[in-house]
Amino acid sequence: MIVCRTKAELKLQLSSLRKQNKSIGFVPTMGFLHEGHASLLRQAHNENDAVVLSIFVNPLQFGPNEDLDRYPRDEKRDLMLAEECGTHLVFMPSVDEMYPNKPLTSVIVSQVTDRLCGASRPGHFDGVGTVVSKLFHLAQPDRAYFGMKDAQQVAVIKQMVNDLNFHVEIVACPIVREPDGLALSSRNLYLTPEQRVQAVLLSRSLRQAEEQLTEQGMTSARLEAIVKDAINEADEAVIDYVELLQFPSLQPIDAAALLSTYKEPLLLAVAVKFGATRLIDNRIIQATEVNSYV
Ligand code: PAF
Repeated sequence: MIVCRTKAELKLQLSSLRKQNKSIGFVPTMGFLHEGHASLLRQAHNENDAVVLSIFVNPLQFGPNEDLDRYPRDEKRDLMLAEECGTHLVFMPSVDEMYPNKPLTSVIVSQVTDRLCGASRPGHFDGVGTVVSKLFHLAQPDRAYFGMKDAQQVAVIKQMVNDLNFHVEIVACPIVREPDGLALSSRNLYLTPEQRVQAVLLSRSLRQAEEQLTEQGMTSARLEAIVKDAINEADEAVIDYVELLQFPSLQPIDAAALLSTYKEPLLLAVAVKFGATRLIDNRIIQATEVNSYV
């Protein structure tokens, strides 16, 4: 496994892969890798000749009061896991290498960013769109792999790729969960033991809601209330949002409309704070057909 810390090194290594006509699967991350990232790397390994992983904690996507400074990092462990998953190349640039000058250009995706994390973390997806565009230009991958835990990020990146004609296939991969259902996240590490116990209510409430989806007369307002009531059982949980939207357009659903009238997949998404730790989770659900998105 080769580690590149500069754009020039990455370019050199990629040109040698390209000369051998190798297809490239790309997994962009912010490091502190867990089984969720490992599943992306393994899928990329199965579907491509070479796997490129990027590890870069992107300052552009953090708000002023967010956790950029305390975002967990463990380079040694990340490299070990990456190698175990069959990664060929790791791109680990510094902030100065990625942004030698303050960028005056941003990639801003509208509409799909109006709600959920786009609304509660202003500017977040401008930072994601900008860095992912830069990384796509640098890595020139055939396929790029993203986890569905950040379902809105998947929708934003797909929109950007279509709008700007990037020659890359976006592969959305299933959420990886702990045995009790908690979605894996680098931020789970911040939870106190008590918060960790309570955090299981995110996935549990989404599952309960899905079970009740086909009940007669079910509306988005009622479904969201089921999730909110279940999460509010946790005394340390502060709900940021619980929203049911059309997916992948992320357009709202009329609160009173019967869900049985929606044929397309719906995204039921939650963001909840436990102290300073903000967790997200979601389920793609379908009132009329078997869920087939991922
Ligand atoms: O999902 C992430 O880890 C980040 O948002 C990404 C895609 C690596 C961009 O910094």
